[in-house]
Amino acid sequence: MPDITKHLLFVEDESALRRAVAAQLIARGYVVQEADSGEEALAYLAEFAFDFIITDLRLPGIDGAAVVEAAVGRYPDIIAIVVTGYGTVKDAVESIKRGAWDFVSKPFQIDELLHALDSAIEQRRLKSENAYLRAQLEERYRFEGIIGKSRPMTRLFQLLETVAPTNSTILITGETGTGKEVVARAIHHSGPRKLHRFVALNCSAIPETLLEAELFGHVRGAFTGAVGSRQGRFEQAHKGTLFLDEVGTMSTGLQMKLLRALQEREFERVGDSHTTKVDVRVIAATNSDLGRMVAEGQFREDLFYRLNVIPVQLPPLRERKDDIPLLVQHFLDTFRAAAGRPAPVTVSQEAMRRLMAFHWPGNVRQLENAIERAVAFGAGRSQIDVTDLPPDIQQAQDAAISPSVTLPEEGIDLDALIGGIERDLIQRSLERTGGNKGQAAKLLNLKRTTLVEKLKRLQR
Ligand SMILES: Nc1ncnc2c1ncn2[C@@H]1O[C@H](COP(=O)(O)OP(=O)(O)OP(=O)(O)O)[C@@H](O)[C@H]1O
Ligand SMILES: [Mg+2]
Repeated sequence: MPDITKHLLFVEDESALRRAVAAQLIARGYVVQEADSGEEALAYLAEFAFDFIITDLRLPGIDGAAVVEAAVGRYPDIIAIVVTGYGTVKDAVESIKRGAWDFVSKPFQIDELLHALDSAIEQRRLKSENAYLRAQLEERYRFEGIIGKSRPMTRLFQLLETVAPTNSTILITGETGTGKEVVARAIHHSGPRKLHRFVALNCSAIPETLLEAELFGHVRGAFTGAVGSRQGRFEQAHKGTLFLDEVGTMSTGLQMKLLRALQEREFERVGDSHTTKVDVRVIAATNSDLGRMVAEGQFREDLFYRLNVIPVQLPPLRERKDDIPLLVQHFLDTFRAAAGRPAPVTVSQEAMRRLMAFHWPGNVRQLENAIERAVAFGAGRSQIDVTDLPPDIQQAQDAAISPSVTLPEEGIDLDALIGGIERDLIQRSLERTGGNKGQAAKLLNLKRTTLVEKLKRLQR
């Protein structure tokens, strides 16, 4: 492993032992995050790509073996070591089956633990990628090509399973690159219309004057240049699905015609007096706030309700960081296969940390591009490293775990800065625990009363 910071999560419920061991690990250069329960460990793992996890096997609540399984499931490259009590070798063996690298029995000398860590690092160098495990992982966390295992994504999969077989109109909203088109296709392909066409139309890509003919078709002579009759997208999608992308950009005149087509499932080709009937499921998408556009009079309210029968909201990637390792692995596999020459098979944990700390304004599409680039830059090496990432991502830092502050020439206001960090961490801990002050205090290693006091002070 190159000379980089080694981040270690240490899970142990006996606090005196935990602190003593943590202090020794810190003295050896590890950056240590302590957790006193399996639950707390899982919360840390959801947010941060540790290099190592050392966990006691016997923990109240979620036990060490389950923590190991979760850690390795999420980060195939993490090195997990379990600490076992009084001759529970059987349990140790079980946890190795579940992904632990090694075990150390209690009571142990710190050197034994350090030795286990060192030899794991050494052997890791030699270990080849376990492609089978990875393939298995991906199968479990996808729905028709949509990858994700975060809470919002698993909820999305449930929703999609329910709505795919129906004919209901769906409105997908989300920032750019969050996967709106992927989701629309997934709905089509997992429902009964999959034998017919999925027709996509990007409403913003076609000049307004041509959009009507594009949607509904036209007859010969309907307008200059209309030499023959032509089917529109509605007709092409008969019995299938019509995907109307960027629906918010449509003029109000056309919105009216679309409304009728949705209500009656009938329309006229441009220049035609004859009415055409179709059987089409409509899925619309937008990255603008249609609700606000309605309030501002830019989008018809009746059309909005017609489209928004089933709203599907795609969360930005920064709000589901725990999907990042899975997506990274998926794109890595895709681009490696496409490269046709030796390309990296894994991502270093340090690079993964930067990827997870970045705020991803372009969401999954931007991540996909970053990995494509990294695969090209990392050609000939087995691992993608920090320097293979685009510069802005290289610089991403997770403020919660490793605050790095520079001291400018003119100095800083220490109290204001520390106060800001304190407020930020308190807020994060409350968010993570759904506002539970007791649990939040625990995450911050504070007494509940101290946290309450601090909160009062912050609100003043
Ligand atoms: N959950 C996901 N799993 C796998 N790939 C994804 C996922 N979400 C998005 N992608 C990929 O990211 C890229 C962008 O997705 P998509 O085109 O669906 O985004 P979008 O929301 O329609 O963006 P825009 O608003 O810019 O049109 C695509 O290459 C898609 O394959
Ligand atoms: Mg799109």
